[in-house]
Amino acid sequence: MIIKTSDGRELPVEMYKIKIIQNVRLIPVEERLKAIEVAGYNTFSLRSRDIFIDLLTDSGTNAMSDNQLGASMLYDDAYAGSESFYKLAAAVEEILGFKYVLPTHQGRASEHLISKVFVTEGSVVPTNYHFTTTKAHIELAGGKVLEIYGDEALNTQSKYLFKGNMDLQKLKDVISKYGRNKIAFVRMEATTNLIGGQPFSLENLRKVSKACSENDILFVMDGSLICENAYLIKMREKGYENKSVAEIVKEIVSLVDLFYMSARKNSSVKGSIIATNKHDLYEKIKPWLPVYEGFLTYGGMSTKEVEAMAVGVREMVDINVASSTIEQVKYFVESLETKGIPVITPPGGLACHLDAKRFLPHIPQNQYPAGALTAALYIISGVRSMERGTISMDRDKDGKELFADLEIARLAIPRRVYTVSHIEYIVDRLLWLYRHRDLIKGLKFVDEPPILRFFFGKLQALDNWGRKLCDAFKKEFGSNW
Ligand SMILES: Cc1ncc(COP(=O)(O)O)c(C=O)c1O
Repeated sequence: MIIKTSDGRELPVEMYKIKIIQNVRLIPVEERLKAIEVAGYNTFSLRSRDIFIDLLTDSGTNAMSDNQLGASMLYDDAYAGSESFYKLAAAVEEILGFKYVLPTHQGRASEHLISKVFVTEGSVVPTNYHFTTTKAHIELAGGKVLEIYGDEALNTQSKYLFKGNMDLQKLKDVISKYGRNKIAFVRMEATTNLIGGQPFSLENLRKVSKACSENDILFVMDGSLICENAYLIKMREKGYENKSVAEIVKEIVSLVDLFYMSARKNSSVKGSIIATNKHDLYEKIKPWLPVYEGFLTYGGMSTKEVEAMAVGVREMVDINVASSTIEQVKYFVESLETKGIPVITPPGGLACHLDAKRFLPHIPQNQYPAGALTAALYIISGVRSMERGTISMDRDKDGKELFADLEIARLAIPRRVYTVSHIEYIVDRLLWLYRHRDLIKGLKFVDEPPILRFFFGKLQALDNWGRKLCDAFKKEFGSNW
């Protein structure tokens, strides 16, 4: 919750008490340099024990509530017909309004099944912006992603409040160019992850939904961050100020045919669901669930997690849960912006996004500025972030580098895990890094996997810049930090 302080500041105060903790350690800068070198300058390959503050992702890293943990002890481990599943199905129907639910082990598994069933060779999937795993599954099924975002979407210094909107004219053009038979489905992502966690408005969603139904095109929503999007609608869209997050979520989902979400995000458990009210869609996907995931009533999730998810789905529409990340992100972004550090604005859901093109203008895209920035931040702070730029794009079929629209170092805020003092520490270290940005140079691949290379790729620092950065840091702070 935002509390106004007596000197006029806005403080995002944590609306929870911490009952269970995990100790973390901050290893000295020399050890951090060694760790990132062993990791091939790829933050995915760091060991958790070497990380002080882990902002790699909010997927599966959120804190559960006491009620979720308690519920998880009531699991029914039946292979088929588990009572745990029926509790989840009841929660999904109550909160999201869907009659049919298919659990899967995580978001990308839902994407796999949806792509397998609906994407055909040569088909296209228009979207407000792709996500890495979504794109991989659509392409593996023979389809192609078409990004049809609006004019402001890629402006990293924008004031536009709904950069996740789909461009209606471009959608109409795509429909007339490809025709409904070539369009596998239209996909809308709630708070577009890769362009800064930016929301869509309900006004836009309603129009996209209308265009789909008028043309008999399947409309799919990736609702992994639906509650954050709903909260941002409440804060930003005229007419929704007095609606609850739960009411807005209901209105969003009423506009789509097929819904999936990674439960690792909004509902703080390890799992995912596909949900719909259309019996024919459900029947098309259902046979594949036991083939790839597990029986219909657990779908690859542990029944403990299914129980916790039933509680998490109800809790995710609580305003203190839906707003927890957003308010911390806003504080984080605004603290950096006022100090002149290049961040993506306006603040959205999910994360604070550093604009690496502006942070490191001297590094060309073929030397991966966003990757270099994530490695540099780790060296000087022990903070782990994620590259969301050209490394996160795979090469095309001919091996040509595909440059990302944006070069982002993403600092994701897991729900209810870190406090404002953690954010203050990172802001301070980023200020130092920005002052020393000229020491950071590019990266080159020494081991490059053919798909989703950002996960396992190994890189090298050009001109051994990691050592120079480490030395400059030690000179100022000594070797213990
Ligand atoms: C928008 C979006 N869709 C899908 C996924 C994939 O979900 P999962 O990590 O559960 O596989 C993510 C995960 O980060 C995501 O942000």
